[in-house]
Amino acid sequence: MKLIIANWKMNKLEAEIKEYFSAFKPRNCNSEIVFCPPFTYLYLLSQLTPYKLGAQNCFYEDSGAFTGEISPKMLKDLGVSYVIVGHSERRNLFKESNSVIKRKVLKVLEHDMIPIICFGESVRTVTRENRLKEIRAQVRGFKSLIKRSVLAYEPVWAIGSGISPTQDDVLEVTRYILEIEKPLALVYGGSVSENNCKEFAEVTDGLLVGGASLNPLNFQRICEKIEEIRAV
Ligand code: PGA
Repeated sequence: MKLIIANWKMNKLEAEIKEYFSAFKPRNCNSEIVFCPPFTYLYLLSQLTPYKLGAQNCFYEDSGAFTGEISPKMLKDLGVSYVIVGHSERRNLFKESNSVIKRKVLKVLEHDMIPIICFGESVRTVTRENRLKEIRAQVRGFKSLIKRSVLAYEPVWAIGSGISPTQDDVLEVTRYILEIEKPLALVYGGSVSENNCKEFAEVTDGLLVGGASLNPLNFQRICEKIEEIRAV
């Protein structure tokens, strides 16, 4: 069974979400599909869909004077199963460090949810050694937590760019991670589309889909195409 995660980022309003789920009807899909809408629509999705719920971020305390933050405890209370942590947009735009990300991961685990820890090199042209070095620095601190987490390999340059790595590149990173520790699942993310989804799902446990998950029919075709891998 593959894991397919839709990361909607900061997109969609209530009416669009209702329309989305009247169109999104994947056939014969045995994958675990996780929708990560903005916080404000988690409840709506919990009422509207049978799919697993994921949050795009969280804070690392349960409650208190942290204006504007959302705690893992609150997410659990809403029925959330997965929480994305350390997405490159959080690392870069909101300056989240590995130590902050680790505190978040620990809190998510404490509340019996599954962290989806994102990692990946920032530059496309980097050498193989430097790529693995950058990845090692990102995942090293999480070693003891990896087996209870989903890892998402997302090369930063591939996110939203329409450019993606080769299957061999992804396979190499997958092998490298498995040498460190086996996560619950290792998924690939970064410009996943209908055209390349099978290639990446063949060498991983699934996908983290951004842009292509915003359109229900595109995302549906991705979910359906993944089934063809098993059929081969
Ligand atoms: P993308 O986003 O599929 O639009 O590249 C992936 C992500 O950032 O989660």
